[in-house]
Amino acid sequence: MGAGVLTRTFPRVDGVVRCGTTSAEEVAREFGTPLYVYDLDRVRERARAFTEAFVGVDHLLAYSVKANGNLSVLRALAEVGCGADVTSGGELYRARLAGIPAERIVFAGVGKTRAEIEQALGEGILAFNVESRGELDRIAEVADAHGARARFGVRVNPDVLASTPHRYTATGHAATKFGVPWSDVRALYHRALERPSLDAVGIDVHIGSQIVGVDPYERAVDRVLELGAELREDGVALEYVDIGGGFGISYDDRPGLDIDDLARRVVLRVRDADLRLLLEPGRALVGDAGVLLVRVQYVKESEGKTFVVVDGGMSELLRPSHYGGFHEIEPAGPSEGRPIRPVDVVGPICETGDFLALDRALPVPSPGDLLVVRTAGAYGFSMASNYNGRPRPAEVVVDGTEVRLARRRERHEDLTRGEA
Ligand SMILES: Cc1ncc(COP(=O)(O)O)c(C=O)c1O
Repeated sequence: MGAGVLTRTFPRVDGVVRCGTTSAEEVAREFGTPLYVYDLDRVRERARAFTEAFVGVDHLLAYSVKANGNLSVLRALAEVGCGADVTSGGELYRARLAGIPAERIVFAGVGKTRAEIEQALGEGILAFNVESRGELDRIAEVADAHGARARFGVRVNPDVLASTPHRYTATGHAATKFGVPWSDVRALYHRALERPSLDAVGIDVHIGSQIVGVDPYERAVDRVLELGAELREDGVALEYVDIGGGFGISYDDRPGLDIDDLARRVVLRVRDADLRLLLEPGRALVGDAGVLLVRVQYVKESEGKTFVVVDGGMSELLRPSHYGGFHEIEPAGPSEGRPIRPVDVVGPICETGDFLALDRALPVPSPGDLLVVRTAGAYGFSMASNYNGRPRPAEVVVDGTEVRLARRRERHEDLTRGEA
């Protein structure tokens, strides 16, 4: 499933990086920088690849909205049949606005408020992924108060330590805040059997993010399916198993998770268990479908180091400084003849941690040059902030031959909106 050179999104043709039928430089001139650009055909292609891989079992792709909640992206995914995994009332609002049917939405997160539970019950979502006994009791209370029934699955902590690139992205081992400890799970389902407003319909697991090996998934699936069989014996009418997301992609020359291999190892197991399969891919659907375009402002030499100061940094793309995330960076135009040197690509924000790349061998650019930061479609804009009083960037989509604005650049008035 790795993108080969020929099929690469935003390919370099005749020395310039392209966005659909136009050049990255033209798009940047029209919409300004810093700028996020998403290729919707690539997003659809990735969703179809998952659907084809898992065709052997009744399944739902519940796209993880946190990766990229842009309405145009969500709408493209809705059109190819995706549901959504949301983590807040705000993401639920977005998903519904983009046309994702409520019966394809699951609601995750350790801190659901009463208002969010009411909102989700009002929408009639597929299920809550419950993270604690307190949350289950709260959902029951809210459902009782509204004469509603709440469908849910418990997010179990399988205590599987998957290798992820950063400790902040491992979630499936016992020492994280996520999920219900293995030893408490059955008691929670039994508690629900006594509450008429609760329908226990699923079992859920999510072991981390940017996982490139299939084995941890296989272990987690085996564990939850075994538990699922016990729960059925206890009288729980399970309909689905949700294996979460975290499917790793390629950020450099190392391959991402082999989705076909994952499907081969999971499909039969889930089908034999007579369950529907839910998957919550985020990054794997949108990551390589996006780039961040930044313009070089200054090239600064200091103590033998070269700093390339660009107009986007940690407020636009937090991954490098927060997770140590790697993004390929290259000039948007030709760079033959430029010396290649290790440089730090840094943003304008007043933090030493404000960088897009450190010690990266790049053709040394000049002020005014455009740089392409690749594989920025996931956890890019969705983690962007207004830190240092910076309006968030515009987002543009490439849809076939069309390039259109999906979200306008914020203005200074947007920074103070809502303040007294
Ligand atoms: C419960 C859950 N599902 C799905 C995802 C999506 O992860 P990814 O974008 O790595 O696929 C996350 C990410 O944090 C998550 O916490």
